[in-house]
Amino acid sequence: MKVFINKKIPQVGIDILRKAQLDLVYPENRDFSKEEIQQHLQTAEAFLNVGGTKIDSNFLENYPNIKAIALFSVGYNNVDIAEASKRKIPVGNTPEVLSRATSDVAFLLLQMVSRKVNYNIEKVKSGNWKDFDALEELGQELYGKTLGIFGLGRIGFEMAEKCKAAFGMKIIYHNRHQNNDAEKELDAEYVSFDQLIQKSDVISIHANYTPDQANLFDQTVFEKMKSNAIFVNTARGGFHNEDDLYQALITNKIWGAGLDVTNPEPMKKANPLLLLPNACVLPHIGSATVEARDGMARLSAENIVAFASGKTMPNCVNP
Ligand code: DGY
Repeated sequence: MKVFINKKIPQVGIDILRKAQLDLVYPENRDFSKEEIQQHLQTAEAFLNVGGTKIDSNFLENYPNIKAIALFSVGYNNVDIAEASKRKIPVGNTPEVLSRATSDVAFLLLQMVSRKVNYNIEKVKSGNWKDFDALEELGQELYGKTLGIFGLGRIGFEMAEKCKAAFGMKIIYHNRHQNNDAEKELDAEYVSFDQLIQKSDVISIHANYTPDQANLFDQTVFEKMKSNAIFVNTARGGFHNEDDLYQALITNKIWGAGLDVTNPEPMKKANPLLLLPNACVLPHIGSATVEARDGMARLSAENIVAFASGKTMPNCVNP
C-alpha cells in the first residue's frame, strides 16, 4: 500500500510505518513541491496529512485512490468528515498526546497577558525601561478569579486543572454536553454561554471548531465580557472575529487577549493586533514540544498501519 506523507514528521512515525513494510513516500531531505504533492496524491492509497490541507469533496474527487486519511493533528476542521464518510474513507486524528502541551500554552498566554509580558519585554529591548514607578505597568492577579472554559474536553480539562492548582481559580464551563466527571474532579459549574462570557475573568477556548461557530466571539460577546476579562484562544482562529477583538482591545472593553491561533494563519506581519500592548500572539505552537510531536507521529502512523492491516484505526473520528 502506498502511503504518502506531505511534510516531515518525527522519526518515530516513520519507523512504525517502515516496520509495517508499507510503500512509503515522504520528504526525507527536502520539502515536496506543490506539483510533487499533487502527483503523489494521485497514486497514494493512504494519506498522512501534516498541516491544514483542505480535504473536501473537491480534494476527494481529485484524488480518488485515497482510501484512508491520518491527520497529524487532533483538530479535524480542515476535513469534510461527512464527505469522507460518504466515501467510506476513515479519518484518524491524534488525541490526548498534545493535551498537556496545548494547555501549557493556554496557561502561558494567560500569564503573559495578565502581567503584560510581551509589552514589557519590548520596553526593555527598546531602551524604554525607566525608573521604578509604583503605578506603572500594573498587571492583574489571577488568584481566586473565575476561569471560563469554552469546551471542557481533554485540553480544557488540563487548562482548568492548572489554573485551579496554581491560582485557586473557580472553574465554570460551557460545552455542547455537560461533563459530570470533569465537574466533580474540578468542582466546576456548567453555565450557559451567556453566563460564561459575563461571569468569567478569563475565557479560554478549547472546543472543536465547526463552521457554525465561525466568529462566535464577536463584538456583542466582547461587549458582554467583564472589563478585566482575558480572552485566550489556543483552539482555532475561526472562533473569534479579529476586527471585533481588535476593537475590544484598543478601547479596553476587555483587559487583553492571548492567541496561539489566528485566521488566516500565518498572521500577516502588518496586522495591527501585533502592535497592541494588551495582545500576545504566538504562531500556533500549542503542540510544538518534542513529546507531543513524537506522540502525534506515533498515533498518526498507528492509524495508517491499522488501516493497512484491515483494522479500524485506533483513533478514528468517523468509525
Ligand atoms: C491540532 O492538533 O489540532 C493542533 O492545532 C495542531 O498543532
